[in-house]
Amino acid sequence: MKKSLIAIALLCSGIVFSQSSHANAFVNGEDAVTYRQATFQAIRFNLVDINDMFRGNVPYDLERVQRRAEALATLSQLPWEAFNFPGADHASGKVKAALWQNLEDFNQRGEKFAADAAALHQAAQGGERREIQGAFREFANNCKACHDNYRAD
Ligand code: HEC
Repeated sequence: MKKSLIAIALLCSGIVFSQSSHANAFVNGEDAVTYRQATFQAIRFNLVDINDMFRGNVPYDLERVQRRAEALATLSQLPWEAFNFPGADHASGKVKAALWQNLEDFNQRGEKFAADAAALHQAAQGGERREIQGAFREFANNCKACHDNYRAD
């Protein structure tokens, strides 16, 4: 409690900012792991909801699909910086060692994932159910492909 008050006081006085030379927003590796895992959970939620609509588990609602697709277009850009900072390979997280040996491939997959989410968002704006479903399938294929290679069980 006392420590966090001091941290807040430091933040407010600008000392932390002015002394900080970090290229990202993370205090440490564990902070980054929390951030990326939380982001993946939000991605999963939005994906599952769209999937449920296409499967007929819940009524299809175009406005709701558009809202989810818009969220995914933003969320899909977020996790990657939390894998790219000095010492990221020493933080916890459920990742395979292969990720750190193939970081460039991993980042490219992240970029493709974000591009597919942008395409899904665009299709959703168009409103054509078949187009949206096709873009959604394309987007969803990224998950397993990357997890098989880089996510630890
Ligand atoms: C480019 C690689 C990549 C893509 C694409 C990807 N993931 Fe992941 N995902 C990971 C990695 C790596 C982890 C492990 C992160 C960690 O524990 O630090 C992970 C973890 C997760 C987790 C667990 C988070 C937690 O709380 O521990 C969920 C849920 C998840 N991903 C869902 C998805 C879904 C759904 C998609 C597709 C819509 C997706 N991911 C696409 C790499 C990816």
